[in-house]
Amino acid sequence: MFDKEREAIFDTLAAEWSSLPGPPLAAALELLEGLQLEDKVVLDVGAGTGALVEAGLLQRPRKWVCCDISKAMLAQIEAVWSGDPLVKTLHADAHNLPLEDNTFDAVICNAVLPHLRDRSRALGEFHRVLGANGKLAINHFQGRIRINAIHKSSSYPLLREDILPPAEMVVAELEELGFEILQSVDNEERYLIIARKPE
Ligand SMILES: C[S@@+](CC[C@H](N)C(=O)[O-])C[C@H]1O[C@@H](n2cnc3c(N)ncnc32)[C@H](O)[C@@H]1O
Repeated sequence: MFDKEREAIFDTLAAEWSSLPGPPLAAALELLEGLQLEDKVVLDVGAGTGALVEAGLLQRPRKWVCCDISKAMLAQIEAVWSGDPLVKTLHADAHNLPLEDNTFDAVICNAVLPHLRDRSRALGEFHRVLGANGKLAINHFQGRIRINAIHKSSSYPLLREDILPPAEMVVAELEELGFEILQSVDNEERYLIIARKPE
């Protein structure tokens, strides 16, 4: 499975993406510091142009893998970070990760969940690649209503269908997969779910 339609859209969007304001460094740090990523192997899924990489490297991870369906997005990460041995890029679809089981300590999914057309399958992939005690963070630095309003006004009809569901729905799906929920926030300003794969 490779979502060719969204790949084409995000390839087109990549040129303007890095000129749009990303999350402030302080907000990214607040998210990542809570995950305790020192010496950890991290999968930044749907990494885009690398909005989290600077804050991620400040956590001193062992490896930071930026995965995205769009090569054009990843090219922008490579243009900035290819000299850093900790940063790797991976052109892959979150629904079908070409990664071994139990190989990551953390999966971070920032501003990506609404774009995953088969959420249950993608969440299953995150569970599969995480090792025991591995953490999954699903985050938006804005509230769900705001995110959904942005998507509904997209000039791309396909992205208008990319709706962020209530956190309680995603929490139930994660629990079904065997995740333990550590935190769930779904309010006007923030959407955050942190889950752990038990031992
Ligand atoms: C809204 S952007 C967010 C980018 C970045 N995480 C950030 O915070 O700026 C969504 C990203 O998800 C990627 N994406 C969409 N569907 C994907 C999929 N099925 N697998 C991997 N990446 C995907 C897009 O190419 C895009 O770069």
